[in-house]
Amino acid sequence: MSVLQANKHSGTFKSTLQKLFSRKKKELDPLDFSVLVTDMHSHLIPGIDDGVKTLDESISLIKKLQQFGYKKIITTPHIMADFYKNTPEIILGGLQKVKNRLKEENIDIEIFAAAEYYIDEDFENKLDNHQLLTFGKNYVLVELSYVYPPSNVQQVIMNLVMSGYTPILAHPERYPYWSDKFEEFQKLKDSGVLFQLNINSLTGHYSVLAQKMAHKMIDMNVFEFVATDAHRMQHLNIAEQTKTDEYLHKLFSSGKLLNNSL
Ligand SMILES: [Fe+2]
Repeated sequence: MSVLQANKHSGTFKSTLQKLFSRKKKELDPLDFSVLVTDMHSHLIPGIDDGVKTLDESISLIKKLQQFGYKKIITTPHIMADFYKNTPEIILGGLQKVKNRLKEENIDIEIFAAAEYYIDEDFENKLDNHQLLTFGKNYVLVELSYVYPPSNVQQVIMNLVMSGYTPILAHPERYPYWSDKFEEFQKLKDSGVLFQLNINSLTGHYSVLAQKMAHKMIDMNVFEFVATDAHRMQHLNIAEQTKTDEYLHKLFSSGKLLNNSL
């Protein structure tokens, strides 16, 4: 008699099947994003990167973030030598226009700007010249290529830290070339880099691999920040769906998130 037949006869097989089919996904209460206080990664200054295109669009997204419960926004336009040659003047000028419009419309939310720096040669020059936009405790938000493993990242990170900055790596779960090389992430952590999760990675919005990496990293408890990285309204509509996500629940209860300290 096979094992299967033996189980059938003992009734175990039937009860196992019953358990399998009766297992329901755990229903979780919707999370309240207001506990985060601050969203610290988004693209809400119109027309200067691949984020919002108009002031109206910017205001719509800010209103939506306010509905989520955020009290403060630190928006972070791209700075990338090849594509987005933004400077502190361009970013802060754009921020002022957004702030003026918020005032006109009596929208009560704090908004600041920094940048999302792509690590390239130009970034190293800016670092050498102390021209970086920071927030919080001298935090600098940095991103890497989505395609090619960076060659000089450890050196740049070391220079940043030695210069008194604390780097935050944007969306590490979106760097697929390190999906089977988590030791690379560990090296960054050991150098003092903080990690920021994109909320929408949990939905599979970017890719199934990014979702899996996000899950694994939440299990490893490596995130200090979570953010919308909103470029357009679609991103916030997707983020809204994550409020009952079990991994986001796990992240919120990790006790490690620093969003509310900004
Ligand atoms: Fe971004």
